[in-house]
Amino acid sequence: MIISGKELSAKMKAAMAEEVKTFPEKYGRVPHLAVILVGDNPASVSYVTGKAKASAEVGIKNSTIRREATITEEELLALIAELNADDEVDGILVQLPLPKHISEDKVIAAIDVKKDVDGFHPANVAALWQKQPCTLPCTPKGIIRMLQTAGVEMAGKEAVVIGRSNIVGLPVSKLLLDQNATVTIAHSRTKNLAEVTRRAEILVVAIGRPKFVTADMVSEGAVVIDVGVNRDPETGKLCGDVDFAAIEPKASVITPVPGGVGPMTITCLMENTIECFLKNR
Ligand code: GUN
Repeated sequence: MIISGKELSAKMKAAMAEEVKTFPEKYGRVPHLAVILVGDNPASVSYVTGKAKASAEVGIKNSTIRREATITEEELLALIAELNADDEVDGILVQLPLPKHISEDKVIAAIDVKKDVDGFHPANVAALWQKQPCTLPCTPKGIIRMLQTAGVEMAGKEAVVIGRSNIVGLPVSKLLLDQNATVTIAHSRTKNLAEVTRRAEILVVAIGRPKFVTADMVSEGAVVIDVGVNRDPETGKLCGDVDFAAIEPKASVITPVPGGVGPMTITCLMENTIECFLKNR
């Protein structure tokens, strides 16, 4: 079974659009998401465009604020402070990565935690690991939603996550643990990686290398979640971290790239924006 993140996203966005329609009467306005894009990295431009498009579909107000790559850290922090103080901004997202002269840690920590729709603020991360209410990071949240919708039981399963980033690997491992899976976090330096991944009943791959996971690394019947967004070096087309053609016949469930995890990330961002709007009323 191929899980279409695109289809599930369309359903979720349609349901959110119905909900948002009722907001002007109930609350006087619709939620407002501010997205800051620094520089013109093509992948970032494309992500930010996707966020604006999804906002329009859901009926959320989106302000995409573009700044030159030469912006200073001080100027960027001042812009965030302005958005923090604006009562009509519910969510603030700074598209990553940032130019090297700007500290991503400082920028993330500067966002008002109540407006942290990415769930990257240290207070949100701490709350997640301490089992406190928090904003869940969008990609991990989207992955769990896809698994639940596909009817994949996570409790008691052996899950292997390849990747240990703050954005995906670490938080998705925590969410799988919260679903009572037994989780192994592997990475590019894991010895005998294929031996580890073959034990996986659920395999999540977020390493950012085209076709990193080959058929010999996956057991028959495994659930395979591909978080990769890469360019195929041969065809130049978008591809995941998983050799889809070779693994699809073995997997019981698999996500495609494009059209899998990517759309779910953006849809969960819409959900987080609505959550922040409602919580801060
Ligand atoms: N860059 C890649 N993924 C993300 C994301 O989920 N949020 C932000 N802010 N930047 C990203």
